[in-house]
Amino acid sequence: MTDRTATPRSFAASVPLNGRIAIPGDKSISHRSLMLAALAVGESRVTGLLEGHDVLATAAAMRAMGATIERRDVGEWRIHGVGVGGLLQPRAALDMGNSGTSTRLLMGLVASHPITTTFVGDASLSGRPMGRVIDPLAQMGADITSSPGGRLPLMVRGLAPAIPLAYRLPVASAQVKSAVLLAGLNTPGITEVIEPVPTRDHSERMLRGFGADLAVETDADGTRHIRIAGEAELKPQTIIVPGDPSSAAFFIVAALIVPGSDVTITHVGLNPTRAGLIEVLRQMGGDIELIDPREVGGEPVADLRVRHSALTGIDVDPAVAPSMIDEFPILFVAAALAEGRTVTKGLDELRVKESDRLAVMATGLTAIGARVTESEDGLVIDGTGGDPLPGGATIAGHLDHRICMSFAIAGLVTRSPVTIDDMAPVATSFPNFEALLGELQS
Ligand code: S3P
Repeated sequence: MTDRTATPRSFAASVPLNGRIAIPGDKSISHRSLMLAALAVGESRVTGLLEGHDVLATAAAMRAMGATIERRDVGEWRIHGVGVGGLLQPRAALDMGNSGTSTRLLMGLVASHPITTTFVGDASLSGRPMGRVIDPLAQMGADITSSPGGRLPLMVRGLAPAIPLAYRLPVASAQVKSAVLLAGLNTPGITEVIEPVPTRDHSERMLRGFGADLAVETDADGTRHIRIAGEAELKPQTIIVPGDPSSAAFFIVAALIVPGSDVTITHVGLNPTRAGLIEVLRQMGGDIELIDPREVGGEPVADLRVRHSALTGIDVDPAVAPSMIDEFPILFVAAALAEGRTVTKGLDELRVKESDRLAVMATGLTAIGARVTESEDGLVIDGTGGDPLPGGATIAGHLDHRICMSFAIAGLVTRSPVTIDDMAPVATSFPNFEALLGELQS
């Protein structure tokens, strides 16, 4: 990534948030739409695609490997794929920017193609562990050379035909699951992922939707066995991407904590493997109403009406973590405004996201006057009971979009403004975040 100037922004005590907004498309589904359409033979059409930097990095990578991907005026994307097994060797390194999902899923895709691919990324991504995908992909026969610690830049020499694998996930990670399933697409025989703790299931739903032969069996103890038959033929699809619940999360919490707010967020994806935050906020006393629940393109969707609420701290059940893994930074903000104590644990994975989200949230919340204790695997937060936080600090966003947005929302309920040192990373997942906030304030 080239150097750029930082974009600092300040957020101050807000008027009530009111109105109706639509948030951008789901990031996970957008990445997968492009990847699978790029492997189908024929033309797929995608509307509602998230046009954030992370997804555009995936689009650029799929183009570099032979797919044709165009955006039409009306916001419809048309993709002509190369067929499973048909990916071409890219001429240059693939720049993944800030995107862990692009990197890990694409590593899986190229691992079973006879091509050599180099992955590079920004400072945040280059600090994140890739060993978790290198291990299973190496077992399938890919030859992977990484920077020290299993980090980017790294090079994948794919093997075709690759060797099918039955792999038990050592961490609850949809990215690792998806990397192995995508490698399995071009691998003869059955590739199996054994998932003791369920994670987001968009890959399974969408692989099936594109015509892959994929079966899921669940043991009595909840362990899932996901089996994909290789050398698949994918058929082009028409996809409507639902709004991203992980982006909606910022405005859900904003409406709950800014006094007098009443906000409706339309067309929000509510896949049960993603909807943990809503359940937890309701347990805290949040007034969140589901309006017109419906199914769009195989995913549950609803409009959400959220009204300012007096929140109460709770012990968050660690079992809910995978279904809201990206929402903890903004949950911590809600907890800082709740009455009483919120306890979270079992969140070791937050330390290897775009930043160490436990440490960065603990430091930032403390800087704006919240009472926070950091443990090895969670935070304990004693809230203000709805009183504004002191604020008046500058927060380092550490190239982490969700940290930047969480503190922007926190700034709306402070006595002195909160400054974020650089809001530019928000464009990775939510390019119109500040514009939508402005709409709700006007
Ligand atoms: C994602 C999986 C999650 C999540 C990320 C998107 C995906 O990562 O944090 O934002 O699209 O598969 P992990 O697999 O590391 O938990």
